[in-house]
Amino acid sequence: MGIYSRLLSYLKPHRGRLLFAVLCMLGYTVAHSLVSVTVFLVLNGIQNQDRVVIDDLPKVSWFEKLHLPALDLPSIEFSTTFVPFMVVGVFLVRGLFEYASRYQMSIVGLRVIRRIRDQLYAHLTRLSMNFYSKGRTGDLMSRTVQDVSVVQAGVTDALVDLVKEPLVILFQIPLVFFWGGPFAFIALIVFPAVLLPISFLGRRLRTIQRKIQEQIADISSQMQETFSGINVVKAFNMEQYEVRKFEAINRKVFNFLKRAVVITTGQRPLVEVMGAVAIACAIWYGIRVLPLDRFASFLTCLFLFYEPLKKLSKVNATIQQSVGASYRIFELLNETPQIQNRPDSITLEGQIDSVEFSKVSLAYERGGEVLREIDFLVRADEIVAIVGTSGAGKTSLVNLLPRFYDPTKGVLKINGFDLRNYEVHSLRAKIGIVTQDTFLFNTTVYENIAYGRLEASVEEIKEAAKAAFADEFIQALPTGYGTVIGERGVTLSGGQRQRLAIARALLKNPPILILDEATSQLDTESEREVQRALERLMANRTVFVIAHRLSTIQNADRILVLDQGRLVQSGTNETLLKEGGVYKRLYDLQFNV
Ligand SMILES: Nc1ncnc2c1ncn2[C@@H]1O[C@H](COP(=O)(O)OP(=O)(O)OP(=O)(O)O)[C@@H](O)[C@H]1O
Ligand SMILES: [Mg+2]
Repeated sequence: MGIYSRLLSYLKPHRGRLLFAVLCMLGYTVAHSLVSVTVFLVLNGIQNQDRVVIDDLPKVSWFEKLHLPALDLPSIEFSTTFVPFMVVGVFLVRGLFEYASRYQMSIVGLRVIRRIRDQLYAHLTRLSMNFYSKGRTGDLMSRTVQDVSVVQAGVTDALVDLVKEPLVILFQIPLVFFWGGPFAFIALIVFPAVLLPISFLGRRLRTIQRKIQEQIADISSQMQETFSGINVVKAFNMEQYEVRKFEAINRKVFNFLKRAVVITTGQRPLVEVMGAVAIACAIWYGIRVLPLDRFASFLTCLFLFYEPLKKLSKVNATIQQSVGASYRIFELLNETPQIQNRPDSITLEGQIDSVEFSKVSLAYERGGEVLREIDFLVRADEIVAIVGTSGAGKTSLVNLLPRFYDPTKGVLKINGFDLRNYEVHSLRAKIGIVTQDTFLFNTTVYENIAYGRLEASVEEIKEAAKAAFADEFIQALPTGYGTVIGERGVTLSGGQRQRLAIARALLKNPPILILDEATSQLDTESEREVQRALERLMANRTVFVIAHRLSTIQNADRILVLDQGRLVQSGTNETLLKEGGVYKRLYDLQFNV
């Protein structure tokens, strides 16, 4: 119930609309209870030869036995020609109220859903890298799109019925007694018995729904993975394999859906049969005692009484399904970002004078330390090359600077202050990152270069592109800077993408630059252009470069050698080569000298 009340808390801002909707439902319920009255009028009219005559209502024998205060109704008499108009009138009023309440409730439901989706997306973008390193983009998409849709059913239609149907039941109870007297007891005795299976089946359904959502998330994950790695799938002839994997997940979804169908479709007949038993009991006794018009109204009332029960059982199913789905949504909303601003955080402004690692160690959530007691200090405008074997911890080391992760031990300082004191956005504004695999957005070249500084002028953007030696190939694109880059930048070559990334970094103009050089060799022409663009980018900045190029190493002011998470050597190319050790081995391996 905790989850459903959390869901309901989203309704608070819509109190006005909800109140209006509930009032309309009350109107609906009143009109609805008049249905049995119209039945009474019709049969009464038949009995009295075209006239409706009401004069005996309070004089029924069992009424007197109950010692109720007598309803001193005046006797009424009118022509049956009015009755059809009354019937239309009752249904018209009922329909209008139903429309108004359902419309308002549905709008509220849609607003709630929009709010949850917005909140979810905003929350997800705030979560830190440790959350995303677990992967499962498909799962996140599935929760934001699919799970939220399931929840929608629970807060729109279900909510209407959840309020309306109990009202109908409440209004029908006195009517059942009014028409049926003591026989009403017999008919209503079954009522609690109906609730038991409904609640049991509802709970089963909730669990099943959660499973369904999990499996659907697996479907999205599977699709996301296959399609983003489609070249690998094809290159290794794995289409059939992936298809079979997909079919296996899909079969699981099918099986769970089948189980849900058993409950959702079985519930209604079950409630119906139980209701029929109750009504049959009432008929058994009532048929001999009650006058025809009264008996017919009594039966109508009973049917009208059991109808909402059927609806409620369906509503319960829908609600349980949305609770199952919202569980997965709240699970995401409950995740807290690992990297947050401290309450007393300060803005990082002005010059960057020094970057210092002080006994910095890092361990990811799973696994041991990947960085151990790293100690070094970098002055402004120094170029620091980081070398080491694959898995030595180079990327992990530079990822600490923009606080993608925080060190598990030790401190990282900029200008002598712990990084964690700075407001995260102001810190990241000072850092530019160019990685091996450039991510380009599915939008124009302009916007891709200006990403992070969308307010930049066209001149500035072109300036940056020129400086990155990208202007020439951009001009050659179908619509130049306005060309929309295909998904994941497939329409551009590796070297071109890198130059766009360099242009992006140049436009941002950060004092600190992190560079993860591509290991793959570009062809000599674009290699030279990328190289020249990088040299421009590195000028007058504090640079941390994960070096794979000989030229980078030779130009570096200092080289840090990482080995299994430890800083084992540091110095210039010449001094390190003289020293020998890890660096010499790496150097010989990489540059074949
Ligand atoms: N997000 C992560 N979660 C858990 N472990 C990680 C994560 N990222 C890296 N690692 C582990 O940390 C170690 C160092 O990885 P890192 O990526 O820093 O190496 P690297 O020196 O950059 O290697 P390469 O030259 O191949 O890029 C590796 O053992 C890796 O498996
Ligand atoms: Mg790396």
